[in-house]
Amino acid sequence: MERAMAVQAARRWQGWLEERLGWDRVRMFLAHKEVPVHSGTAWYYFGGITLFLFGIQVATGILLLLYYRPTATEAYESVQFILTRVEFGWLIRSIHSWSANLMVLTAFIHMFSVAFLRGWRRPRELTWLSGILLLGLTLAFGFSGYLLPWNTTAYFATKVGTDLVGSVPLAGPALARFLRGGDEVTGATLTRFFGFHVAVLPALTTALLGLHLALVQRFGISTPPWLESRGDVPQMPFVPNFLLRELMAWYLALGVLGMLAALFPWPLGEKADPFAPAPAGIRPEWYFLAAFYTLKLLPSHIWVLESEQAGLIGLGLLALWWAALPFWGVRPDGHERTRLLTGTGVLLIAWLSTFSVLGYFK
Ligand code: HEM
Repeated sequence: MERAMAVQAARRWQGWLEERLGWDRVRMFLAHKEVPVHSGTAWYYFGGITLFLFGIQVATGILLLLYYRPTATEAYESVQFILTRVEFGWLIRSIHSWSANLMVLTAFIHMFSVAFLRGWRRPRELTWLSGILLLGLTLAFGFSGYLLPWNTTAYFATKVGTDLVGSVPLAGPALARFLRGGDEVTGATLTRFFGFHVAVLPALTTALLGLHLALVQRFGISTPPWLESRGDVPQMPFVPNFLLRELMAWYLALGVLGMLAALFPWPLGEKADPFAPAPAGIRPEWYFLAAFYTLKLLPSHIWVLESEQAGLIGLGLLALWWAALPFWGVRPDGHERTRLLTGTGVLLIAWLSTFSVLGYFK
């Protein structure tokens, strides 16, 4: 009797929701959503893991905001307070820093896997382009967040980074001034970077992520062309089969993150002293190392340009070429430029990994 009443109440509640939200349409959509099953299916988890890590960043970032102060006189001390006085503050900060790094890594893995699995082919060009912008925003999160503790390495790395921005032909000097809030890295830079980090970048990322995920829902996950031509690719229902596997992947990611954050607490270093000479061996975060080291290797002048200008033009063109992949990856007759894609992708991965390692040890 009680059970029958409970079922009736649940039905009435469902009817109420259905009338107001059209919930049944969502349920029907999810019931029909499928994911192709093949030897590369595991790569499809990386978009979701990146999303999960972004969620962790938002949650831990809000907690850090409760104590952090964005001024040159208080920033370092407020982080020190979080580390020593706030209960579990050290863990929250360590998770935020480690998760930021893992998110950059998984976003790169996700990008290269959709490139090789051909997830960018018609009609998914905008999914690819929104992804490229999301990667740019993720790197901007890293660059702006790095300065916030106001420690020596962050201060001088930001000086080097914003100097490089200043070398961009034409718009560079104005852009560098805009980023720094003046000609030097000062407290004004810190306050600006804080604004970018906690307001501008989260708003842009949330909007773009909404578009990216809406496009993924609209077109479904693609099947690689070499399987499509064989016909009849086995599919797995998204709910519950893929979703449960994705949740296991998140659980694993959380395990790795928790282990790194607890066993290797993120260091704070010394407070920045703008009047002190730059310490030796200043280098940017690992994800900028390949570009940084490449620029360092260039001769002082290339043709009429200074080395940094020429290098930045080259790196910019390379990034544009990669972003435009959906537009050169397939010939007008519909045949793929397989060798060009594989060659570009493999060379990019080889360059990023070797130059990052070389840049780290130089
Ligand atoms: C903040 C960063 C990002 C998040 C949170 C994210 C999230 C996701 C998710 C959840 C999916 C569906 C599952 C999957 O295929 O993995 C997806 C698909 C996709 N993403 Fe991303 N992504 C991000 C960055 C990127 C980047 C950097 C690119 C490439 C430039 C990219 C391109 C794509 C494409 C083309 C698909 C469709 C794949 C297919 O249909 O086979 N995404 N993304």
